Amino acid sequence: MRALIVLSLLIQVLSIPPPPHVDPHPVTCDEKGVQEASQAAEKQIAVYHHHGYKYRLTNTASSKLQKKDDTECEFHLELVLEETDCHVVNPKPLEECQLRQMHETKVVSNCNVTLTIVNGKTFAIKYSCHSEPASAEELVKVCPDCPSLLSLTDPKGLESIKEAMKKFHAETNETNYWKMLEVGRISTQYMFQGQSYFAQFAIVETTCLRQDNPEESKCKMLGKEERFGFCTSTLLGDGEITVDCDLYEAQVLYCTLHFIVPNGNLPNKVLPEST
Ligand SMILES: *[C@@H]1O[C@H](CO)[C@@H](O)[C@H](O)[C@H]1NC(C)=O
Ligand SMILES: *[C@@H]1O[C@H](CO)[C@@H](O)[C@H](O)[C@H]1NC(C)=O
Repeated sequence: MRALIVLSLLIQVLSIPPPPHVDPHPVTCDEKGVQEASQAAEKQIAVYHHHGYKYRLTNTASSKLQKKDDTECEFHLELVLEETDCHVVNPKPLEECQLRQMHETKVVSNCNVTLTIVNGKTFAIKYSCHSEPASAEELVKVCPDCPSLLSLTDPKGLESIKEAMKKFHAETNETNYWKMLEVGRISTQYMFQGQSYFAQFAIVETTCLRQDNPEESKCKMLGKEERFGFCTSTLLGDGEITVDCDLYEAQVLYCTLHFIVPNGNLPNKVLPEST
């Protein structure tokens, strides 16, 4: 019985000014600039990507350079990016995030990118990406016994997250109540203990107090300097639950995360706050 796999499949077409301060190196308007341009595109796409996991550049499949004059040019790039294990709320630098292994179901994103360079800096970026997880058939080939991905809205999976949050609140010393922000992945596997569910999800600190045992829907994000976290949980078929959450320090950078629509699409346009 193979469950339907639903991940965020399509990042919308964006044509936007580049976010400030993210060009890694000056991009030269010649063939040597392709690598810098690809890396600049990777960083800029990351800034506009506000849900799910961070993506890393793994290949520049093709590149075309169009020179306008000595200081201005356009790169047309076909880039391959792959999902990492860092959720966007994780402050870890992209270079330190690990690409998904085959047995974790890789997600590959093919992107068409146009980067306009003026005086070595990105002046505009336009991109469209299509992301797709490896198929269940591919997974079975490398690992017949590995957990298979479920839809992000799978009822049993969501129930396991609810249980995990209960356990988190029972065990933590946090003053405030935290709530689930976004489901990252849900997978399932039949084990010795029965059908078991594995979840990864982002959480956020709210204005409610944990000791009040509040109703989650009434708890709002702090709105300013709230902290985010990322949890992994396991609900075994025999009912045993484990949860492990990393809570991150408040980051000014993540103001833009207020644009997150849980399980929704990337917003059309997000203006990062300049620092
Ligand atoms: C990228 O461009 C190619 C060729 O024009 C097209 O076939 C493909 O659908 C495009 N992909 C995306 C994600 O826009
Ligand atoms: C909560 O506080 C107690 C007592 O200070 C400590 O032993 C325990 O490890 C803390 N738990 C967590 C999850 O930080």
